[in-house]
Amino acid sequence: MYLRAMQELLIQTGTRESRIVLGDTLANLSNYLPVGKKVVVITDENLNKYYGHFFNQFPVVVLPTGEKNKVLSTIDYIFSEFIRIEVDRSWFVLGVGGGIVSDVTGFAASIYMRGLNFGFVSTSLLSQVDASVGGKNGVNFQGYKNMVGVFAQPDFVLCDISLFKTLPPLEYISGFAEIIKAAAIKDRGLFAYLEDNVTLALDMDPSVLEHLVTRSVAIKAEVVTMDEREKGERKKLNFGHTFAHAIEKITQISHGEAVAIGMVLATNASVKMGLLDSKEAERITTLISAYTLPVILPMACSGLLEYMRKDKKREGDVLHLVLLNQIGNAVIHPVSLEKLEKIVYDLC
Ligand SMILES: NC(=O)c1ccc[n+]([C@@H]2O[C@H](COP(=O)([O-])OP(=O)(O)OC[C@H]3O[C@@H](n4cnc5c(N)ncnc54)[C@H](O)[C@@H]3O)[C@@H](O)[C@H]2O)c1
Repeated sequence: MYLRAMQELLIQTGTRESRIVLGDTLANLSNYLPVGKKVVVITDENLNKYYGHFFNQFPVVVLPTGEKNKVLSTIDYIFSEFIRIEVDRSWFVLGVGGGIVSDVTGFAASIYMRGLNFGFVSTSLLSQVDASVGGKNGVNFQGYKNMVGVFAQPDFVLCDISLFKTLPPLEYISGFAEIIKAAAIKDRGLFAYLEDNVTLALDMDPSVLEHLVTRSVAIKAEVVTMDEREKGERKKLNFGHTFAHAIEKITQISHGEAVAIGMVLATNASVKMGLLDSKEAERITTLISAYTLPVILPMACSGLLEYMRKDKKREGDVLHLVLLNQIGNAVIHPVSLEKLEKIVYDLC
């Protein structure tokens, strides 16, 4: 039998302290909820079906699934439900779900009546290792990813890896894209561990999984504590994402799959810019493939460039791309749109 050790990681920012709890289960949810406060739950149809019995003593707002619902009209729907339920500033908002639920819940809770406290039960691999941690919340606008949102830290994030037993296999695989990202930008040791444990990780071996989730969360917690508002260091967490957001908008593939392809493009761009050795680049693409994630751009280059011209991280004619100079070390590199165009066409 494998006994999980409970661990807590703290994100401390100027505004708040956020507890990330690893190794505990949804059955112990009540230990994390604030005493004496009314609670309203936001979840999606799948989580409500599988796990509603853990939280149906509270009023529940159930959202439809899918990225197409990470939009302002969903926030509108949540507010209508909050008004119907008579949620006021004394309530606590709990999001139970993957990255879409946490992005939407954190945003809705932060702006309803100028802000309610909130927390998450993070249910997908991708949301545990990345989306639910760090306080970026928001929605897409006119197809552009995360264009409207806030920085606001959840009081707690409960990461229960036993919930993955109901996670669809493709959603499980998607999560590895963000783990590989964390390793590629910050932790050469974690990268080697991913290389050495592909089969066990894909088979949901609990001890391997726990190490991967804990290490990824620790990396994110450290970066966010240092730079909550993405002035510098936090930008490195966007490795592969400038490309990924364009791919997601145009092809509708999952976030994790888009990040995987985005990382391949950013890795190859790092080689083209003379920063990264091609052998290191090969290791990255091989690892992404080993986790059965896609590595080939499923669209024309022109669409990619058009989106990147509108990227919200662009300043004038320069995009600050996150590139690698070795596995485990990212650098932020200004690249002119003209140069980027050349690089992208070379990679396609
Ligand atoms: N805020 C951030 O810092 C940040 C970081 C990375 C990604 N994101 C966002 O996160 C989103 C992707 O997150 P995701 O991959 O978790 O997507 P998701 O929330 O859509 O979840 C994926 C699917 O799995 C289902 N699901 C989740 N957990 C389950 C479980 N335990 N059992 C059964 N079904 C389950 C959901 O219902 C959904 O259908 C994207 O919108 C992305 O932009 C945000």
